[in-house]
Amino acid sequence: MTIGFLGTGKMAEAILSSVVQGGLCEPWEVVACDTSAERRDWIAKQYEVAVTDDAVQTVKSCKVLVVAVKPQDLDALLAGLKGRLTERHLVISIAAGKTLAALKKAAGAKPRLVRVMPNLALSVQEGMSVYCAAKNAKPADRKTVAQLFGGAGAVLELPERHFDAVTALSGSGPAFVAYVMQAMIAAAAALKLPKDAARLLAEQTLIGTGIYLQNTGRDIGEFIQAVASPKGTTAAGLSVLEASDVKAVIGQTLAAAAARSRELSKA
Ligand SMILES: NC(=O)c1ccc[n+]([C@@H]2O[C@H](COP(=O)([O-])OP(=O)(O)OC[C@H]3O[C@@H](n4cnc5c(N)ncnc54)[C@H](OP(=O)(O)O)[C@@H]3O)[C@@H](O)[C@H]2O)c1
Repeated sequence: MTIGFLGTGKMAEAILSSVVQGGLCEPWEVVACDTSAERRDWIAKQYEVAVTDDAVQTVKSCKVLVVAVKPQDLDALLAGLKGRLTERHLVISIAAGKTLAALKKAAGAKPRLVRVMPNLALSVQEGMSVYCAAKNAKPADRKTVAQLFGGAGAVLELPERHFDAVTALSGSGPAFVAYVMQAMIAAAAALKLPKDAARLLAEQTLIGTGIYLQNTGRDIGEFIQAVASPKGTTAAGLSVLEASDVKAVIGQTLAAAAARSRELSKA
């Protein structure tokens, strides 16, 4: 499989590194195209893949294209490629807010299109990537997307109508989780725990809880009740949470992020 990356910033690098280092592609099967000479030099040095600033040439030599430029640069990039993208191309866009309809308008009707919403944790192989595919996408295209993104975390296909919620939960979610962590660390520091220790404890508690719940598949409500023994420490803390409006605030947070995602998709 020959893969071209159009734009090789942080997100593309996370995918490219897992593809090359995970053995899905040999370095000579990857072309990294970027307008930034600095990025091209970095990517060539790190991964020994071919680099270029010529997007047209990349499209000529690669059947699978990962489009990873900023959303505001996407239309200009695809306009320059119109007519060159054909049925033989699978175009996978990770540009936030760019719908399949917008991609089709910019890239033309011929290429098979897939839209992906990844998140930042891709760079530590714990990403969450959700994708939706255009009608002309084939089963093999879905397999390709699962392979490309699966090396750097979990992958899920969902209808595009869910993408604003996906953007709010897993796309913006790392910042929300980090915000909670920050509050937990500050609260522990107020209990005189050294800051470095508090950070490690908070990180590991979040990681461990996530992995535990994922591996066991346990019902979350039942898990909370099980760890909160009557009159114990967890129950004492939970009673404060339950009396607060934290659930409503989290609801408003995700609703605001989803509403902004909807606005950006229409822009
Ligand atoms: N960061 C996240 O958590 C996240 C989550 C989900 C989705 N995304 C999406 O991922 C995409 C990439 O984000 P990023 O943070 O990796 O961006 P980034 O670091 O800015 O990387 C984009 C790269 O593409 C280059 N570029 C711009 N126009 C180009 C063109 N016409 N041809 C080739 N290269 C071009 C840029 O060069 P210059 O710097 O010289 O312009 C830059 O090196 C965005 O669309 C974003 O919406 C990001």
